[in-house]
Amino acid sequence: MKVFAALFTCLALATALPANEAPGEEKHPKSKFGSFDLVGYAKDNPIGKTTGGGSGEKVTVRDGAALLAAASDSKPRTIYVEGRIDLPSRLRVGSNKSILGIGKTAEIRQNGMTIVNATNVIVRNLAIRFIVDNDGITVQNSTRVWIDHNEFESEFSQELGPDYYDGQLDTVRGSDWVTISWNYFHDHWKSNLIGNSDVLRDVDFGKLHLTYHHNYWRNCGTRGPSGRFGHQHIYNNLYVDYRYQAIQSRSDNQMLVEANAFFGNTRTAATTYGLVIPEDSPNTSPEGDFEIDGYMNLGAKNYFGDAAVNITHIGDFKKAPYKYRLTDLYELPFTVLAGVGVGKI
Ligand SMILES: *[C@@H]1O[C@H](CO)[C@@H](O)[C@H](O)[C@H]1NC(C)=O
Ligand SMILES: *[C@@H]1O[C@H](CO)[C@@H](O)[C@H](O)[C@H]1NC(C)=O
Ligand SMILES: *[C@@H]1O[C@H](CO)[C@@H](O)[C@H](O)[C@H]1NC(C)=O
Ligand SMILES: *[C@@H]1O[C@H](CO)[C@@H](O)[C@H](O)[C@H]1NC(C)=O
Repeated sequence: MKVFAALFTCLALATALPANEAPGEEKHPKSKFGSFDLVGYAKDNPIGKTTGGGSGEKVTVRDGAALLAAASDSKPRTIYVEGRIDLPSRLRVGSNKSILGIGKTAEIRQNGMTIVNATNVIVRNLAIRFIVDNDGITVQNSTRVWIDHNEFESEFSQELGPDYYDGQLDTVRGSDWVTISWNYFHDHWKSNLIGNSDVLRDVDFGKLHLTYHHNYWRNCGTRGPSGRFGHQHIYNNLYVDYRYQAIQSRSDNQMLVEANAFFGNTRTAATTYGLVIPEDSPNTSPEGDFEIDGYMNLGAKNYFGDAAVNITHIGDFKKAPYKYRLTDLYELPFTVLAGVGVGKI
């Protein structure tokens, strides 16, 4: 089983790293997870903490029609999703919503969701599987969004190519103040895009502040994540078999990358070289597509394994403007494998 293979490489890391080299701010011996509370830009930002449905009405949905009807307005509402829902059309999510899967089996298929022109949205504990020809979740022109403890699954297949599925979780069009935590992204080509075009500088520049922490990527191709024009703090994520290129900062984007761990067959772990590599869109850009470079700072020590790192421009994003707790690097693989995905909160 692949997870065992990952654990073995994790054990190799645990013995390879002397304990005194492991980074970490505060220790939290009581719980290996610390807590699953909201951390990062969706919590600490100039417009207020993300609270989703808050104390608004609560509904439970079991079919597509009910889910579509409950999510699209901007009234505060917590929507509990029970079981598998095959959505008849794309789910549009409006402001002030929490969409929370119940137990281990909440799942959407057939169509994904777009959080659009909205503020204050939470999506937790939901599997989003095999969404063809569109993103699993698109966050578009929206602020204060927390995407936590979900599973995103499709296929990473040379036969189907990169465009059969689109992104797993893409954040675009001036969106801002987003936290993406404890998600399991697997078996997908183009996973997480931030800023969907280099011609949207005016829309995106100075926005797209995202925190990515404690996510697990396995068997993906590109965009883990790839960011343009914004600021992203990428810490404590686990990568196994990220085939072509995982973290990319391009088009004047700024990233702070710290205490992440890479295992298995990963070609490039982190780069600021602007070229959109040929493997990203071999159908439309077989030679690749030139964009200007981005910026990257490495904070607390990462474990890149054998993967390449190509930082062409050091940036000025040296410190996250909020409180957070780093998991020790040598504990990270175990912590992430045990804590990510559905059925954990
Ligand atoms: C919900 O969201 C809107 C933004 O679309 C906001 O103006 C409003 O104050 C929020 N709260 C309620 C109770 O509607
Ligand atoms: C979002 O807002 C823009 C501009 O007001 C509008 O054109 C667009 O239709 C809105 N999208 C949705 C899904 O309501
Ligand atoms: C973005 O959403 C806001 C509502 O929150 C809307 O007023 C604005 O027109 C939207 N802009 C675009 C480009 O869709
Ligand atoms: C690293 O970046 C340089 C540009 O500064 C580029 O020429 C080179 O091909 C890149 N290497 C890789 C492995 O992407």
